Amino acid sequence: MVQTIKALAAALAADLAAVRRHLHAHPELSFEETETAAFVTRQLREMGLQPQTMAETGVVALIEGRPGGPTLALRADMDALPIQELNEVAYKSTRPGVMHACGHDVHTTSLLGTARILNQLKSEFQGTVKLIFQPGEEVVPGGASLMIRDGVLENPAPRAVLGQHVFPKLPVGQVGIRSGRYMASADELYMTVRGRGGHGAMPELNLDPVLVASHIIVAAQQIVSRRANPKMPSVLSFGKVIANGATNVIPDSVYLEGTFRTLDEQWRMEALGHLRQLCEGLAASMGAVCELEIRRGYPCLDNEPALTARTRAAMAAYVGEENVVDLDQWLAAEDFAYFSQAGPACFYRLGTRSADGSRGTASVHTPTFDVDETCLELGPGLMAWLTVQELAAQ
Ligand code: NI
Repeated sequence: MVQTIKALAAALAADLAAVRRHLHAHPELSFEETETAAFVTRQLREMGLQPQTMAETGVVALIEGRPGGPTLALRADMDALPIQELNEVAYKSTRPGVMHACGHDVHTTSLLGTARILNQLKSEFQGTVKLIFQPGEEVVPGGASLMIRDGVLENPAPRAVLGQHVFPKLPVGQVGIRSGRYMASADELYMTVRGRGGHGAMPELNLDPVLVASHIIVAAQQIVSRRANPKMPSVLSFGKVIANGATNVIPDSVYLEGTFRTLDEQWRMEALGHLRQLCEGLAASMGAVCELEIRRGYPCLDNEPALTARTRAAMAAYVGEENVVDLDQWLAAEDFAYFSQAGPACFYRLGTRSADGSRGTASVHTPTFDVDETCLELGPGLMAWLTVQELAAQ
């Protein structure tokens, strides 16, 4: 079966590169993936499948193998980022300020390839494959949560969900995986510190929100350094601070945006409580007011150990043990976490840079992100193989 799948994947690779280039040139922002969803729907119909729309711009389809087996779900995300592409390539984004800079074009293409392979092999396995093309991975509340709300994990309910993500740190040919807790929770912080503006030469008449906000930024780090268990990673970052006064003008208010991330759900809730208490209390102690809005983001992502062990073993059989890399925990967040909180799930990484470093070395979410397209042979083939193996697992 390995050789059959590898041969099918090799035969598809050139076609899939063209699919990926089309998607890359026509990126759509989160929850606006109408053309992408229509494209995916057409591709699935051409395979003889009956795709359905879900969560407005999501697509779901089933591949029925021989009757009687379990259902396994495979997930890809379809949205792009608000980034202006700087790559000068033939398939450069045609849309100003919008770019597939997180490889979701590769994920969508790869899952279409996996679908083609599994559709050709459906008499060879028992069970059902549920293909999930979700919208809006990059923006809270996350397309995964909306798809789950709309029933993507019912009728039929999958026994497990597999997801794949591009990974520029690894060369094409290698894959990365980690059992257990792998990625962080992420909550968004929106804060306004209100004081009283005025002439910079007369602080006694004003209430300087810039100074109050500065104290808050510094003091809030003690939640990470003094309140958090030192064995539990936590990150607090403020990436936006706007105090729009002048050299001699103290503004009325300061606006801040930030993120809090950790790898423990209970500590997450406690830390957010500490943060609110500290920001509001510190501002009040200085005579100012702090309005803090916490937008709950994605939960922690867990790779279920038994499923992950089976997936890792199947990976090693496909690419060789030496090409399976055990990953460290990472404090990025990913809405695949919703699938992992709903049931057994495994999220793994596909190496996407050239072995010689000539292509695909830029990080995700940067204007020069790209992949070595030869990953479009391993990506679909591996996922088809993992699916066949998992459906046969006891
Ligand atoms: Ni992504």
